[in-house]
Amino acid sequence: VTLRVDVERMVAGGVALGRDGSGRVVLVEGALPGEVVEVAPTVDGPRSARGAVTEVVVASPARRSAHCDEVDAGCGGCDWAHVDPAAQPSLKAEVVRDALARLARRPDVPVDPGAVLPAEGYRTTVRAGVLDGRAAFHRRRSAELHLPDACPVAHPLVEEVLIEGRFPSAREVLVRCGAATGERMVVVTPSAEGATVPPGVRLVGSDELRGGRRAWIHEEVDGRRFRISAASFFQARPDGAAALADSVRDALGDIGDARVVDLYGGVGLFTGLLGARAGVLVERSAAAVADARVNLAEFGTRTVRVAVERWRPAPADLVVADPARSGLGAAGVAAVVATGALRVALVSCDPASLGRDVALLDAAGWEPTGVVLVDLFPRTHHLEAVTTLVRR
Ligand SMILES: C[S@@+](CC[C@H](N)C(=O)[O-])C[C@H]1O[C@@H](n2cnc3c(N)ncnc32)[C@H](O)[C@@H]1O
Repeated sequence: VTLRVDVERMVAGGVALGRDGSGRVVLVEGALPGEVVEVAPTVDGPRSARGAVTEVVVASPARRSAHCDEVDAGCGGCDWAHVDPAAQPSLKAEVVRDALARLARRPDVPVDPGAVLPAEGYRTTVRAGVLDGRAAFHRRRSAELHLPDACPVAHPLVEEVLIEGRFPSAREVLVRCGAATGERMVVVTPSAEGATVPPGVRLVGSDELRGGRRAWIHEEVDGRRFRISAASFFQARPDGAAALADSVRDALGDIGDARVVDLYGGVGLFTGLLGARAGVLVERSAAAVADARVNLAEFGTRTVRVAVERWRPAPADLVVADPARSGLGAAGVAAVVATGALRVALVSCDPASLGRDVALLDAAGWEPTGVVLVDLFPRTHHLEAVTTLVRR
């Protein structure tokens, strides 16, 4: 059985929402707004259905062939390989508008799709599974793995490790490079035993990290150098990190002598690029805090190693908050509120948590004045968004 679906719009998770002949809602993988597609349903309920495109009857002008042999061979790493990269920011903006309207009841907040970043050779951090001792990606809509011969979205320094590396004792690898420094590292889970990597690549097992071994690389963003330890978070591309920091700077306005709090601050990216003096950085990861202390030594930043929800809030003029996918939630919002900040830059990587967090901050007295997207992950549905909130 297939369903013929008129596709209306993109929604969270990178899927499209459309309707079949009876008006039933169908969530479709691999479709674009304005298209008419045939869908093989994997879920076929009375009020809604879900499935993937089997045939495109009327194509969107934004559709293009994947231009990637690996995607053609079933690699599921890039779920938007069929979408023109130039069209992706505005489709992602649509998803954010939908989340703001449904979850925050704020359809009026302007959403700027932001700049288009290069769609090839961009990822300086890649996490992969391991199949037969080699780095592998999930196949589309499957728990099985695909062994790639190339990865066009990975930075060439990362791609070489993914393709050439051998990891006989692993089930997962995290490959990271500094695009500006040329330094490279692989974190192998659970063990790097027997692994081989190209010369000069630092190799460390997650078992060794647990045993206290330290390993890091350096990257430069906007001319500023950051130490990044094996267990620390870092944005997946340095040009995207710079673009995010620009949007945060725009959201916060003049920093001057303002008291700046950097929540979920990682290795200090935003404090460092904003040049915030004598601010506070709150971060739960010990590795990231150790990096931040090195990276921000010149600023006199107070680094606090604690979960945001357990942090004893300090008064602030400006707050940047960049939580994990689940968002700030009530406890994170309470911490922001307790700072009494005049302006907040909320960095979100999930449209649903963006919508929920904006709703909570709006109710607490912070007006969302605009959202700017930074398309850190072209060829995938993933997005980053910076929301400006101003205290009423
Ligand atoms: C999306 S990353 C952002 C890091 C940094 N702002 C950056 O751009 O590089 C989120 C960070 O929050 C940290 N984190 C996650 N949950 C946390 C919590 N409940 N309290 C404090 N930090 C947390 C993670 O360790 C990670 O470093």
